[in-house]
Amino acid sequence: MEKKNIDWSNLGFGYVQTDKRYVSTWKDGSWDEGQLIDDPVITMSECACVLQYAQTIFEGIKAYTTVDGKIVTFRPDLNAERFADSAKRMEMPVFPTDRFVDSVKKVVKANESFVPPYGTGATLYIRPYMFGINPVIGVKPAEEFQYRVFTTPVGPYFKGGAKPITIRVSDFDRAAPHGTGHIKAGLNYAMSLHAIVDAHNKGFDENMYLDPQTRTKVEETGGANFLFVTKDNKIVTPKSDSILPSVTRRSLMYVAEHYLGLEVEQREVYFDEVKDFAECGLCGTAAVISPVGKINDHGNEICFPSGMDEMGPTISKLRETLTGIQMGTIEAPEGWIVEID
Ligand code: PLP
Ligand code: COI
Repeated sequence: MEKKNIDWSNLGFGYVQTDKRYVSTWKDGSWDEGQLIDDPVITMSECACVLQYAQTIFEGIKAYTTVDGKIVTFRPDLNAERFADSAKRMEMPVFPTDRFVDSVKKVVKANESFVPPYGTGATLYIRPYMFGINPVIGVKPAEEFQYRVFTTPVGPYFKGGAKPITIRVSDFDRAAPHGTGHIKAGLNYAMSLHAIVDAHNKGFDENMYLDPQTRTKVEETGGANFLFVTKDNKIVTPKSDSILPSVTRRSLMYVAEHYLGLEVEQREVYFDEVKDFAECGLCGTAAVISPVGKINDHGNEICFPSGMDEMGPTISKLRETLTGIQMGTIEAPEGWIVEID
């Protein structure tokens, strides 16, 4: 299989149309058998539920070329489970978890020539999603749905790759108490668009959202969970019912404990404590683990000791170990790596 002629090392995090995508339709109470198709365009009613009432959910997974030339994905079973949780909360039919994993494998295989080679720093981003497609005008869930998966080769989520970024404490909330912050619904991201544009206009890379009820506790950013390192090298990560249970964060907690021998704590993190941490990172499929150098809280700056030039030592070790596991240079825990054959 010949790779596409793409400048892999200079890819940003953008959409590049690939050859094949997967589609399965839910109609009359069941999923059809699904198929790979060529056409990237979707035609639907002007009154489709997704257009009027945003009934849509998604996932994000990556495929990697390992050091020995295999193509693999990372823990897609956890994305399948989270996708099922998102569907239930959004009154959508569950796409069976085994079919989810199978469809991801099929689409990656069909777009093999777009999977970036080992060592380029790029990966193939996989986007499974589902939306209500029949016309709905009274507020209620759709009755017909499409489940789809497309792929796009990507580079780093934040410009500058692994260089520390600057974020600001947001005055806008991303999720409501008892709302949908814990699932991966498009509506959460719609909520964050104004906040991210405003942050970028003011020179910040991302928003730190605090809990909407008390504005005293750290939640997450628009697209990643937080991970902090204490001065005595403990890993601390926020616990909240309104943040997304990140697969990357859960994996890093395991890596920290079992590969690096660090103590790990998942608990409520008060914003007041943040100034005392030694390192701060954002973790997610797209972000991997991106170091935060500075947090701006309405003009007051928290500058982490690791500075703006380099990643701190513990975040750096966590990143190296996780990417080593993903790229096959470090042995993975049982079941984490799923080979595309
Ligand atoms: N939090 C939000 C809001 C996200 O969009 C993402 C991205 O998926 C994450 C956290 C990280 O989750 P994961 O590691 O499963 O990609
Ligand atoms: C991911 O990390 O997969 C995400 O979905 C984050 C972002 C692109 C919204």
